[in-house]
Amino acid sequence: MFRRLPEARAATVRVFIEGEAYEARAGDSVAAALLAAGRDHCRTTAVTGAQRAPYCMMGVCFDCLVRIDGVGNRQGCLVPVREGMRIALQLGKRALD
Ligand code: FES
Repeated sequence: MFRRLPEARAATVRVFIEGEAYEARAGDSVAAALLAAGRDHCRTTAVTGAQRAPYCMMGVCFDCLVRIDGVGNRQGCLVPVREGMRIALQLGKRALD
């Protein structure tokens, strides 16, 4: 679906997407890393369970909500990846702990 432009070597960081290790490019947002990893959605809606994927990539649509390191409702397009980050799909509404 998405393909990176050719460029010189870029540093990578290891993140875990749904528990699976993935080498993300340093400086990418979580949403960009998910798309680069081939994920076709990052959340499901609270009412119907419909799948949603990052759309605007600039903090407006909220279709990129994910759980990051156990915290839900994080906008993946606004959070840069970092080493060891654990990213999980957000299924429905955020659970309050
Ligand atoms: S992709 Fe739209 S708010 Fe993140």
